[in-house]
Amino acid sequence: MAVISKRLLLSDLVSSDKIDQVPSNYIPPVSQRPNLQHVVHESIPLIDLHNLHGPDRSQVIHQIGLACREYGFFQVKNHRVPESTISNMMEVAREFFKLPEQERLKCYSDDPTKTTRLSTSFNIRTEKVANWRDYLRLHCYPLQDYIHEWPTNPTSFRDHVAEYCMSARGLALQLIEAISESLGLDKDYINRQLGKHAQHMALNYYPPCPQPDLTYGLPGHTDVNLITILLQDEVPGLQVLKNGKWIAIDPVPNTFIINIGDQIQVMSKDKYKSVLHRAVVNCDKERISIPTFYCPSPNAAIGPAPELVTDDDPAVYRQFTYGEYYEKFWNRGLSKENCLDMFIAT
Ligand code: OGA
Ligand code: NI
Repeated sequence: MAVISKRLLLSDLVSSDKIDQVPSNYIPPVSQRPNLQHVVHESIPLIDLHNLHGPDRSQVIHQIGLACREYGFFQVKNHRVPESTISNMMEVAREFFKLPEQERLKCYSDDPTKTTRLSTSFNIRTEKVANWRDYLRLHCYPLQDYIHEWPTNPTSFRDHVAEYCMSARGLALQLIEAISESLGLDKDYINRQLGKHAQHMALNYYPPCPQPDLTYGLPGHTDVNLITILLQDEVPGLQVLKNGKWIAIDPVPNTFIINIGDQIQVMSKDKYKSVLHRAVVNCDKERISIPTFYCPSPNAAIGPAPELVTDDDPAVYRQFTYGEYYEKFWNRGLSKENCLDMFIAT
């Protein structure tokens, strides 16, 4: 019998043991497998943000509203995040995952409450089936509260990641204003509901996989936060559920993929949907994706915008704090797909 050495990180298992079969703990039951032959290739709306800052703003707001309603996902170009900031971010992520195992393991933790940590899968303390992914998770706003925890190897890590985080935050704030406006709310409405705000990011590393139809990088889930700004390399892997079908989203250089998270779904009173998406893996290429999760602060009270609640159209969810929601998310696991049903109004 082949002996598989104990490794904390998947990337080290894959590279050192030259495994040619997916270990059984990475394989979900047959009914939950990716079924890659049924996936269709389609695009999601691509929105040019250039006109967000000119006389045609209302047209862009309209496009964003439509995309949030129909897809929960869209791509943006002319987003004002400089190309060099993006390429430095991607490069430093690639270098980080190439560091020797011992060096990377200095950041390792399986405790989801830690604000800087390298881990694998999703939550190995609670999940039954593992995912084909390693990830470095960082809290990044306010920057000065967290940057001292971040890796110092590669030496340019903190500088490049900090620059990227600040730029991504600028984009998140513009999008949050636009989303507020598109709901017919004051443009500062959502911004004001978020308390002091928070921002996290993940550097996801998906190693090549010998049997991509048996496992996931990440299984179907919705994002728990407000909105996500996804940067990815040129290797496809993201799929989004639309009308009951998984659609594969091919990467477009210098664009970001934006998706609505659970908190916007709640604030918009289900007008905008936090849509199921997943990451699949492939046989021959590693893939890196870098989501920025823009979030309320843990003590922010989340509920539907009062303007959207009427007697005929009452609140769907009870009030909760983001901290309460976030804790349930990590403990419950991705396989249950969505936490919102735990917060239905009674
Ligand atoms: C996530 C996510 C998708 C991807 O990290 O929440 O959905 O393509 N990632 O890596
Ligand atoms: Ni996600």
